Amino acid sequence: MRIVLIGPPGAGKGTQARVLADLLSVPAISSGDLFRAEIGRGSELGELVRQHTQAGELVPDELTTALVTQRLREPDAADGFLLDGFPRTVRQAELLQEALGEDGTVLDAVLAFDMPDDEIVQRLTGRRLCPACGTTVHTVFSPPRVPDRCDGCEGALVRRADDTEETVLRRLAVYAEQTVPLLRWYTDRDLLVHVDAMGTVAEVSDRMRSALAAVAL
Ligand code: AP5
Repeated sequence: MRIVLIGPPGAGKGTQARVLADLLSVPAISSGDLFRAEIGRGSELGELVRQHTQAGELVPDELTTALVTQRLREPDAADGFLLDGFPRTVRQAELLQEALGEDGTVLDAVLAFDMPDDEIVQRLTGRRLCPACGTTVHTVFSPPRVPDRCDGCEGALVRRADDTEETVLRRLAVYAEQTVPLLRWYTDRDLLVHVDAMGTVAEVSDRMRSALAAVAL
């Protein structure tokens, strides 16, 4: 299965990508995670990416697509993948289609997560990550047993640099301007399915599975 998850920042794409990737036995590939790894390497490219992400702006299309399509060529993605947060502009979708089309591959479905802005601000300002093992928690919705410590590996939890309220509001505006037009683009190609992203993680997972079963499973 080849699936794309689209949604505003903080709608739960990463959380649900992990659930769905386990269910389908395919890798979950997040453009945001690829960028954070590049920033962590301290490369020149990482510095360019850091400037865009910390301002809440999108990284340029060609650069983003090159990074993701390179990852898609790794062997574990040969029989399917889940793309989390990519594409997020019409130009990226066109470039992805060209890259997949080279070997006859097509997408099976695009899931669009719907969520109101006020809930998003609450979810992102409370998000904490464990850089050591990748666990994501929320200070209110899924608090760690010991404050600021990861339940899994006991590493120190951190806040993402782009999860301040000011940057979250900018990311939301960028989503409305640059990603919402992509929803129409995928609707026109009969690939888009909406998923209500409100409710518990389990409730959203159930909705996502039902939506997918109706179109692609
Ligand atoms: P990226 O890392 O992709 O960020 P995003 O799209 O803004 O999404 P998030 O990761 O913030 O949220 P999410 O939807 O995955 O939610 P999560 O599951 O963590 O991108 C970061 C930046 O990189 C972008 O701003 C841009 O600069 C750049 N970039 C990335 N891709 C790009 C592209 N294609 N083109 C150009 N630039 C790109 O959940 C959020 C919180 O809510 C967590 O604390 C979680 O525990 C909690 N939570 C999740 N589900 C629930 C639930 N059901 N109930 C209660 N709490 C929940």
